[in-house]
Amino acid sequence: MSRRPFPRRRLHPHRLGQPAPGPPGRPLLVTADELLLDDLLRLGAAAGVACEVAHDAASARAAWVAAPLVIAGADLLDDLVRAAPSRRPGVVLVGQDLDDASIWERAVSIGAEAVVFLPDAESWIVDRLADAAEATGPDAVVVGVVGGRGGAGASVLATALSLAGARAGLRTMLVDADPLGGGIDLVLGSEDTRGLRWPELVGSRGRVNGTALQEALPHVEDLVVLSWDRGDALSIPAEAMRAVLAASRRSCDLVVVDLPRRVDAAAEEVLAACRTTLLVVPAEVRATASAARVATLVSLLTADLRVVVRGPAPSGLGAEVVAEALGLPLAGDVRAEPGLSETLERGEPPTRGGRGPLAAFCSTFLTTLLPTQEAA
Ligand SMILES: Nc1ncnc2c1ncn2[C@@H]1O[C@H](COP(=O)(O)OP(=O)(O)OP(=O)(O)O)[C@@H](O)[C@H]1O
Ligand SMILES: [Mg+2]
Repeated sequence: MSRRPFPRRRLHPHRLGQPAPGPPGRPLLVTADELLLDDLLRLGAAAGVACEVAHDAASARAAWVAAPLVIAGADLLDDLVRAAPSRRPGVVLVGQDLDDASIWERAVSIGAEAVVFLPDAESWIVDRLADAAEATGPDAVVVGVVGGRGGAGASVLATALSLAGARAGLRTMLVDADPLGGGIDLVLGSEDTRGLRWPELVGSRGRVNGTALQEALPHVEDLVVLSWDRGDALSIPAEAMRAVLAASRRSCDLVVVDLPRRVDAAAEEVLAACRTTLLVVPAEVRATASAARVATLVSLLTADLRVVVRGPAPSGLGAEVVAEALGLPLAGDVRAEPGLSETLERGEPPTRGGRGPLAAFCSTFLTTLLPTQEAA
């Protein structure tokens, strides 16, 4: 099979939502206490975040509003109260003395939303610093895609949807959550692209830095892809999926997940996070019967399950009839994509150039899912 390079895509000029925020500013540390500063800088390093430092209240006041997070030491609290910086969310005070009852009152007067003490609050501060550095607005919308039967077209649709998202200017990640699938990188034609695959990530736990994850994963133009490799199939532990999904959601606008039909613990994590899950059903009687079984299970695990009926329809079975038989809303009816099998065999992604029935469905679906005013 001779494979060609992935074509360069032009970004769609219309972004579904507000422009991607620029890099967030640095968290601000306010203290003249060298020991506390050392501790906070160490926590910043643990979070992978560079911080600004203000050694007095006057310089803190100047940087106060622009910083994504302010962590102030109690050593400068009285000076800060006098400097009266503007009210803003995301101010944390690090206390020195657990018995100092007045600290709470003074903390309120500078608008602090929390008073914490070290070392107890170390991991909490690391998380807050990492969150601030990744401050990218609301979490990404997650869309799951599952086949109503084997070979239904779920992986193709998930890939086409993610390409449509990237084409529309959304920061998009495509996640292959089907350990027994062939690997979504083969659908994209990105099997030779360098970057991490699931086998290196199945040990993930707790908090994963979203920006670092994005950088480590293969990029296919603007699309970030988390796929399997050609090694033996492994399962994804629920903790690993939870950690990776949370990181992806913090750093993207749209996460599209190709789900297995046999729902495992990792797929349950995804289904619970999906805004919408698409059940792909070929327009055939037996496929509909099989999809009914998948739907029974999946509908218990996800908030909004919709049917995408895929052509051809050998007996003319209508999309509405399929959806009605399944008792689910119809997300769309996609005609067979001309020449798709050959395209995939050549290692070219579906919906090349953003044309054809699949691309049209995906772009309409995304516009409905993420109306402009709501997407950011
Ligand atoms: N929109 C489409 N139009 C025409 N043919 C399609 C379409 N989608 C999928 N196919 C055909 O179906 C085949 C299987 O598609 P795909 O791998 O996406 O299915 P799947 O549901 O992910 O299967 P699996 O059960 O292996 O996960 C493709 O190789 C292609 O030949
Ligand atoms: Mg598949």
